[in-house]
Parts: sequence; C-alpha cells; structure tokens
Amino acid sequence: MRVLMVASEAAPFAKTGGLADVAGSLPSALARLGCEVTLVLPAYREVFAKGLSVEPMGLEFEVSIGARNLPARVLQSRLPTGNVRVLLVANDECFDRPTLYGGAEDYPDNSERFIFFARAALEAAGRQGQPFDIIHCHDWQAGLVPAYQKLLYASWPALAPARTLMTIHNMAYQGLFWHWDMLLTGLDWRYFNWQQMEFYGQLNFLKAGLVFADAISTVSPTYAREIQREPGGCGLEGVLASRSDALSGIVNGIDTAIWDPRTDRSIPRNYSEDDFDVGKYAARVALAARLGHAAPDPRPLIALVGRLVEQKGIDLVIELLARMAGGGRARFMILGTGNPATEDALRRMAAAFPGTIDLVIGFDEGLAHLLLAAADIALVPSRYEPCGLTQLYAMRYGTIPVVRATGGLADTVVDASPAALGEGTASGFMFEPFNTAALDHAVSRALDAHADRPLWTGLVRQVMQRDWSWEASGRAYMQVYERMRARPPVPVR
Ligand code: ADP
Ligand code: GLC
Repeated sequence: MRVLMVASEAAPFAKTGGLADVAGSLPSALARLGCEVTLVLPAYREVFAKGLSVEPMGLEFEVSIGARNLPARVLQSRLPTGNVRVLLVANDECFDRPTLYGGAEDYPDNSERFIFFARAALEAAGRQGQPFDIIHCHDWQAGLVPAYQKLLYASWPALAPARTLMTIHNMAYQGLFWHWDMLLTGLDWRYFNWQQMEFYGQLNFLKAGLVFADAISTVSPTYAREIQREPGGCGLEGVLASRSDALSGIVNGIDTAIWDPRTDRSIPRNYSEDDFDVGKYAARVALAARLGHAAPDPRPLIALVGRLVEQKGIDLVIELLARMAGGGRARFMILGTGNPATEDALRRMAAAFPGTIDLVIGFDEGLAHLLLAAADIALVPSRYEPCGLTQLYAMRYGTIPVVRATGGLADTVVDASPAALGEGTASGFMFEPFNTAALDHAVSRALDAHADRPLWTGLVRQVMQRDWSWEASGRAYMQVYERMRARPPVPVR
C-alpha cells in the first residue's frame, strides 16, 4: 500500500509537541508492516539547523496562492529508520523563520503558509509517478489537503485514486482565519458555507479536513467520544457526530528507538525493570549536577514535562505546589515552555520554595529524557488530553504517572486501586474532577505507595514491562486504510 503522510512537524526534523513524535515514528511502523510511505514536511529553518542529511531533488515548481505564485523547492531525506522517504517543501518566505508557527502570537500569515504547504505537498508527491492509495493528513495545517485532492487535483493520476484520512491531534487548534483568506485557497466561494469550510464567519481549515476527508481518526478512543459532544468538540462536535461512522480512535505508540531506558544515550546509566533503582539513581545524580545541586534530594521526585498551557492543567499544579511544597514530602521539577503568565507564576513558586521546586523554562529534549528517568512520579493533570505521550514515556522509564481521567490518559493508565494492584494491571494514579483537592489526593496516594517499597518496586516493574510500541496501533491504522480502500470516496457536495 502506498501512503502519503502530510504533517507540519515530525521528529527529528522539527518538533513543538507530540504531533512530531507521532509523525516521526508512525510512518516507520507502517513501513515495517509493508506500506511504502512518503512523508511530506515543510523545510523550516529548524530542519537545517539539525545537521540532518537533506538533499535537493532538482524539483521546483510554482504554487498559486491567490493572485501570487510562490516558488516551491523540494528536498529529500529519510527518517532515521531508513525505511521512509521524506520530502521537504522549501520556500524561504514561508518557512525560513525562527519558530514553526510563531511565538506568543501566531504568525499573521499562517493561513498563507499552510495553504502553500498543503498545495506544495500534494504537488511534490503528485509528481512522483506511482499513484498513492492513501493520503493521511495531520491536524489543521494539513486540513485543506483532502479538499484540494478532491477539488483541485482530481485530474492528477498519482493523487486522484487515493482515499484521504484526516487525523485530529487536538480539537483546540483548528486553523481559523478571516473569510477573505478563502481567496488565497483557490477554492470556489461556494464551499464557504456552514456545512463545509465556514465556521461562525471564519474560514476553518480543520473543519474542511473533517468534511472532505474519506475518514477521520483521532489519537484515542475516549477522545473520539469526547469530541462528538461539548466541550470536547470545540464547536465542531456536530460535524464529528454527523461523521461518527467514519471516525475512529487509535492510541499513539511510542518510538522505542528513542524512548528506551535500556539504550537511551541521554541518561548516564541504562537500565531495565531488573535494575531500575540503580539506573534511576544515576539519573538523579546527573540531574542534580545539571541543576547545580551538591547532591540529589532523597525525597521522591515529582516531574512535569510539557507545554505550559491551559490544556495541561498547570493552574492545578500551581495550586498543588502552594499546598504541598511547604510540607516537605516531595521534591518537584518542571520543564516546559508556553504561556508567559503561567511561566511567571511558576517562577514565583520556584523562588518561594528554592529547596523543593526546580523550574527549567525551555525546550530541551535531552533534559526531558533525563528528568523522566530520574523522577519517581510524573504529573499529567490535563483538562483534556487527546492522547498524551509523556505518561507513556514516563511508564517506560519506570516513573509512575498521576493523571486526570480524560482522553488518552484514561485509555492508557489504569488506576492503582486495590483490585488493580491485586490483578497486576495497575499503572498509575488517576483523578477525575478537575480540581486541586482531587489532584492532591491522587498525588498523596502515589506518595503513600512510594513509601511502601515492595509495593512500589512491584508497580514499577510491571509498568516498565507494558508494550507501548507502534506495533498494535500501526496495525489499527492499516485496518482503517483497508476499510477506506474498500469503500468509494465520499462524494463532493
Ligand atoms: P502535546 O503534544 O499536547 O504537547 P504530548 O504528551 O503528546 O503533548 O507530547 C509532548 C511531547 O513534547 C513529548 O515528546 C514531550 O517530551 C515533549 N516536550 C514538551 N515540552 C517539552 C520541553 N519543554 N522540553 C522537551 N520536550 C518537551
Ligand atoms: C496533541 C495532543 C496530545 C497528543 C499529541 C500526539 O498535541 O495534545 O495529547 O499526544 O497531539 O497525538
């Protein structure tokens, strides 16, 4: 099966969050299952800064964006596994910038940038000969691809026979732009209506993807249910409910070549479930040195790695710190970047409890690995979470997650109730109501369990043995592809 995968970021080329982890590892898993996958990405400045091998292909063309023609240059590379071809579409005006999408504010021309990307991705792949069976699009940045495939590229032999799959990683980011940007898309105004591309007077890229794609998926079964009603659907619950037959939820896998304490080169000593205490202690010593502490703190270490935004429940964490940091039961470390007000609130907390809270504001992948190895407990108290990867990484590194029962967190973590502990299925501590008392209760349960050494050791061993590789989820995507191929494409209205 020939699959074209279109995403706005993929590790190791460019990353701001979990989408990059997925788009950088799912294609290799599909290739192992027999697919021939081509991944298309924007050639951001970050791609060239990474020192990866990227070569020109001698393929250049122009893409029309409204009244302008923008030049596209195509470069090629491969994912580190070697089994996936990567095409990078370059246009310096669009992608030679310091960050992927903007800073505190999005870049004002993001609609133009990702209209260019969607069209250039299809044109780059469409000039490669053999037809694709599946075009798999991720998030709003690739949201126009299904519409383009059906409306503008229907005569391209390599693109026309394909079925399109739209995967949602986060309903909160839809790519909403003012209606006049419809002129930039090159699509007819008649598609700008409430059932297709319009959303309360604006142009909505994700909605276009959900309407025009032949099938839709999201990154966990629970999130697939949550987005068909308020508030999870973020206004598109009606669209999703009307397409529930075409919607599936597949939990993300993890890239075990990157996230494995047995082989990870970001940690000082590799470990497995048999010697995790030695490996985690070595990580703790290295972390203390990195932070400038004389010696590691003997108290349990509670970690949080993630984007410091409303989704991630950082407000609860700030309240939790105010309650717990004075009590002395645990040490905390937070690694993240995001909302400036949240960063400041965390800075104030860290300054108030210098011996108990470490805060690193920044995006540092090596440090994320070291911290998840060093910690005993990982906090993921999200308001909502389509899938969540940090709880999966944490578990693999023997760090027990404390999570809110939402989205993929509910699908991947089993609360350590007495029954689950007895059956050997427990993998973390879960709370449901979104409030500090509930989070505090779950953290306190985790700390009580941590104090019971035999119990904790058993829990860590068991959690480290769980298989989060792409094997099962890759097969689930293959089934979705097969089902799509067996059905006619969704007709354009
Ligand atoms: P989301 O995609 O919503 O941000 P996920 O849990 O799916 O959440 O994925 C987040 C990814 O980004 C993980 O690989 C995590 O380790 C990484 N990450 C987030 N913030 C940072 C940071 N400040 N430094 C390093 N890695 C980070
Ligand atoms: C999004 C979601 C996160 C998910 C990731 C990868 O960024 O917020 O929950 O794990 O995409 O699918």
